[in-house]
Amino acid sequence: MKKSLSLIFLLAVAISATAQQKVLVAYFSFTNNTKAYAEKIATMTGGDLYEIVPQVAYGDENNKYYDESTRAYQEQRNTGGEQRPEIFATLTNAEQYNIIFLGSPIWYGKSPRVILTFLDTYGFAGKTVVPFVTSASTGISQVNEELPSAYPCIHWIEGKRLNGMSDSDLQTWVQGIMQTTTALQDVSAETPTAKGVYTLSGLPLSSADNLPAGVYLINGQKQIIK
Ligand SMILES: Cc1cc2nc3c(=O)[nH]c(=O)nc-3n(C[C@H](O)[C@H](O)[C@H](O)COP(=O)(O)O)c2cc1C
Repeated sequence: MKKSLSLIFLLAVAISATAQQKVLVAYFSFTNNTKAYAEKIATMTGGDLYEIVPQVAYGDENNKYYDESTRAYQEQRNTGGEQRPEIFATLTNAEQYNIIFLGSPIWYGKSPRVILTFLDTYGFAGKTVVPFVTSASTGISQVNEELPSAYPCIHWIEGKRLNGMSDSDLQTWVQGIMQTTTALQDVSAETPTAKGVYTLSGLPLSSADNLPAGVYLINGQKQIIK
């Protein structure tokens, strides 16, 4: 009985939260490969599409990667990655978004530094952010490591390299993310008195004591335990 009540509670939360889902698909793209996937994800989710634009555009010479004299090389490689090239901060009402798909090419193994400028600018604390990338061959693992460790207040979902992905596989991936995150959005706003401790996948736990690091629903609030 208790189990089925929990299930009904979670279903109710999921359904009521669906209406509130607000998706942003933000991307930086130098040669438009990533842009093409960003546009598809925006269509699939009904989300707002937003281009991250550097205040000083990258010149074509940056395409010669491994040329150490280029700006991109120096920003990515020569400084330990702490550079934050300025962007046009034109995103309005950033706080309205629950899920942010965040796209970019891989530059020298990592996210272009403008992606970090974007995260510094808007914060997105407590929001769900999902990276996606394109690259010539490098995988996304350094992005999946660097961004969550630099921005621990964000709820990160493991990102994906999208090169060559079919539309139906892309749809399956995007839908999976929407489904798993929907049940978690703004639970506190909808059910301020909901009691109990749950994992993000909805499993009830007996108490909030000694939880391993992770994100939990505790008395209707999404909380990060470190
Ligand atoms: C400055 C620069 C650095 C790059 N570094 C890498 C890299 O480390 N690994 C890789 O596989 N591709 C690398 N690439 C290739 C791009 O990641 C790839 O072409 C990507 O799809 C471009 O996306 P975009 O068209 O959205 O800019 C690099 C490209 C540039 C211009």
